[in-house]
Amino acid sequence: MIVAMSEFLRLSDVDVAGRRVFIRADLNVPQNDAGAITDDTRIRASMPAIRDALARGGAVMVTSHLGRPVEGRLTEADSLAPVAARIGELLGRELMLIRDWVNGGTWHAELGSGDLVVLENCRANPGEKADSIHLAQQMANLCDVYCNDAFATAHRAEATTHAMALYAPIACAGPLMAAELDALGKALASPAQPLVAIVGGAKVSTKLALLRALVEKVDALIVGGGIANTFLLAAGHPIGRSLAEPDLVPQARTILEGFRDKVPLPVDVVVAKAFAADAPATIKVIDDVADDDLILDIGPQTVAKLVPLIERAGTIVWNGPVGVFEFDAFAAGTQALAEAIAASPAFSIAGGGDTLAAIARFGIADRIGYISTGGGAFLEFLEGRKLPAVAVLEARGREARDRAS
Ligand code: 3PG
Repeated sequence: MIVAMSEFLRLSDVDVAGRRVFIRADLNVPQNDAGAITDDTRIRASMPAIRDALARGGAVMVTSHLGRPVEGRLTEADSLAPVAARIGELLGRELMLIRDWVNGGTWHAELGSGDLVVLENCRANPGEKADSIHLAQQMANLCDVYCNDAFATAHRAEATTHAMALYAPIACAGPLMAAELDALGKALASPAQPLVAIVGGAKVSTKLALLRALVEKVDALIVGGGIANTFLLAAGHPIGRSLAEPDLVPQARTILEGFRDKVPLPVDVVVAKAFAADAPATIKVIDDVADDDLILDIGPQTVAKLVPLIERAGTIVWNGPVGVFEFDAFAAGTQALAEAIAASPAFSIAGGGDTLAAIARFGIADRIGYISTGGGAFLEFLEGRKLPAVAVLEARGREARDRAS
């Protein structure tokens, strides 16, 4: 699973002085309803690439996706404005945020050595999700150096993470991308047993598809959130109006049939009638969940069943909260598991946007072995898949070496 680090070019190997540097970062940070950033870990983790390119005289553009906007329609909620403001604060300067940037313009013509601009949410550009060659070529024309530092989006083959690397004059990996691959490769090369994975959160379809391969690699797979609900449905339990992916029930059933002992399902849950911070919370055994209930956390009996698994683990991999921890009434399950992970002697690796926010909220960052910015990317890495954004950087790296030799 260890990536040969010499395969791709790194930003530090590239002379960026006086050159236009396009950095694809993952600045997809959690925000509250008012749009305020609730955890800026990914922004801070992306700063070394930006600072390095600026310090060495690059003319720097940085972009990212934020959420999952509809292509061609950039709404205020999708805007990178709060992210640009935070980067500006960290650098102590005001930054320009450019809309409709794909074809360049005055801002591009005027971009000079040591300048930095933020390019609006790249996922709002038509063709981004489909990895459009046309869009990739247009974006590649904006730069001399393409730097992918978005480890957390490396599992997506999209125009800014994949095709653009094929067409940019130089394509390299940023320091965060390189450090994540290095650290995860080492940590997961021969993990201490038992290996316990905790997978929760709201991105059910992305993650459930990965669990089939993951369940074979781990000794226990603790599920939470919409993933747990989909498994509960597959096992014939009522879940009311809870988040789940009914289309994936057959896949969940196959996993349960093959690996029932490895997947402990919730025996009790915390429910409410509405998805709201002030909705009254009720603890119910799983078979008492009513048609109009929303499952928003795991219950205390489930916590009591799961904590010993965490205590006995040799390695813990954690991606995704097991409840809506942002609301106090539904935070207890995630908090209890977070504290068990922090207290466990096991080597722990945690990653993903919401997981980072949970780690920050429960104040356990210094008791986690390794914190990754990646969520889905880190699960796919764990599963042993080649991440498409890494594969293309490696191909460009080999090409560059062949030309040089
Ligand atoms: C993440 O939050 O895991 C990454 O930013 C990728 O986001 P996505 O699942 O919307 O592609």
